[in-house]
Amino acid sequence: MLPPFNPDHEGDAAPAELEHFAELVTRADGLIIAAPEYAHGIPGVLKNALDWLVSRPEIPGKPVLLVHASTRGLFVREHLSEVLRTMSVRLFDTAPFELHLIGTSPEAANAILDRADVVERIRLSIEGFAAFAVDCADLDT
Ligand SMILES: Cc1cc2nc3c(=O)[nH]c(=O)nc-3n(C[C@H](O)[C@H](O)[C@H](O)COP(=O)(O)O)c2cc1C
Repeated sequence: MLPPFNPDHEGDAAPAELEHFAELVTRADGLIIAAPEYAHGIPGVLKNALDWLVSRPEIPGKPVLLVHASTRGLFVREHLSEVLRTMSVRLFDTAPFELHLIGTSPEAANAILDRADVVERIRLSIEGFAAFAVDCADLDT
């Protein structure tokens, strides 16, 4: 688990957990971030992880897709978009992906996720994001 962000612990003083996390981000062709909304904001653990990446080379230009398991999380989407743009990611925001699963049991959520129309929406969203990530990689070569 990443410790609380401290800019005095960047560089040579970086915690081992950060190197592992940063390596995973480096290896990813794109990031899919699915986050709940807490008190109209970004969950603290996610913001902490993003703060560790702000000054590092792994994140600028990285393709990112935001996914929400609620159709209510409008504040967190706005906040995350702003933070991620400030971190110079390439946000795939032409079609934000939302499913309303909040308040459903695991069984009911699985039944929704098994529906043909939902499977098709997920497929189209992932395919669109994959094509976006390929375009981003082409821009970098
Ligand atoms: C402390 C706390 C604050 C929350 N604040 C919000 C909020 O501001 N807006 C919102 O849409 N959902 C809010 N939620 C709901 C969460 O974003 C999330 O949808 C919910 O915890 C998922 O619960 P479930 O897995 O039982 O469906 C909050 C949940 C908690 C525990």
